[in-house]
Amino acid sequence: MRTINLGQTGFQVPVIAVGFWRVEKISKAEAGTFIKSALDYGANFFDHADVYGGGLAEEMFAEAIGMSPLVREKIILQTKCGIRMGEAFDFSREHILKSVDGSLKRLKTDYIDVLLLHRPDLLMEPEEVAEAFGILQGAGKVRYFGVSNQNPMQIRLLQKYVKQPIVANQLQLSITQAGMIRQGLHVNTTDDAGVDRDGGVLDFCRFHDITIQPWSPFQYGFNQGTFLGNAKFPELNAKIDEIAKKYSVSNTTIAMAWLLRHPARFQPVTGTMKPERLRDCVKAAEITLTRDEWYAIYLAAGNVLP
Ligand SMILES: NC(=O)c1ccc[n+]([C@@H]2O[C@H](COP(=O)([O-])OP(=O)(O)OC[C@H]3O[C@@H](n4cnc5c(N)ncnc54)[C@H](OP(=O)(O)O)[C@@H]3O)[C@@H](O)[C@H]2O)c1
Repeated sequence: MRTINLGQTGFQVPVIAVGFWRVEKISKAEAGTFIKSALDYGANFFDHADVYGGGLAEEMFAEAIGMSPLVREKIILQTKCGIRMGEAFDFSREHILKSVDGSLKRLKTDYIDVLLLHRPDLLMEPEEVAEAFGILQGAGKVRYFGVSNQNPMQIRLLQKYVKQPIVANQLQLSITQAGMIRQGLHVNTTDDAGVDRDGGVLDFCRFHDITIQPWSPFQYGFNQGTFLGNAKFPELNAKIDEIAKKYSVSNTTIAMAWLLRHPARFQPVTGTMKPERLRDCVKAAEITLTRDEWYAIYLAAGNVLP
């Protein structure tokens, strides 16, 4: 699969990452088939979190892939920490270190390629995060560090203390959830689209070479279902279907190609657990939508040109 630089590192990663949040809905045998297909498609970048399935997702992944030193060399593992589910967000040194040790054990590996702080902790003390990252990198447990769901000021505050560069910011982004893109077209206007809800995170990440990893690339709202083939989005689906027909690909491929067409060089994270749907996602890496096609989809999603 086509690769991109992860952040400012020079580390080449597939342009599409494979998320494991939803792995619990399939069996271990199905997970094995899914992972094998992913590797066949060149999709060897896997996104996890310590809290997915309360740890079961990482465990199931390691079992299903048959983790061994040889297997480990062929894959890129990203996981996240910082959520104590239903209790608190926790970026304390102690929690970060403990969480990583748990992930390493469940993933049956001795290093994680990329560790993300999952969601902002309102009580974050950046000096503690810096200490934790230093220890993890020094021990060879984590190679690169990033964040998720953070705005530019949160990243700047963190980066003031953390020595390692923040290489990625995982953010919700899809055609129907594209506020960070839309906002750029409504600067200083009085309409709702002009409201800056994220501190200009898209341009900030581009400026600082932080890879944005769109999560839920096919969902509308928060996990409300996919917009594809959904009667709630007739114009959008008609446009996507029309373009899909032109390229002889599925609507899934076109929706993914729309994200990949953006010059920020996003690395979307898929959520499907079906090999055939993942294949359609991966196919998007071979397609470059024209400027007019990109804007036609943008408008069909209900956006306007000022
Ligand atoms: N950082 C964060 O805060 C955060 C939050 C949420 C997710 N994530 C990460 O992002 C990954 C992706 O999130 P997501 O699962 O919400 O992504 P998604 O790819 O937008 O959604 C996947 C879900 O949509 C279903 N689906 C139905 N029709 C589809 C179609 N035509 N094309 C594609 N999918 C279709 C899939 O079902 P099938 O399995 O049947 O295909 C699957 O259940 C997660 O696995 C996780 O790694 C991160």
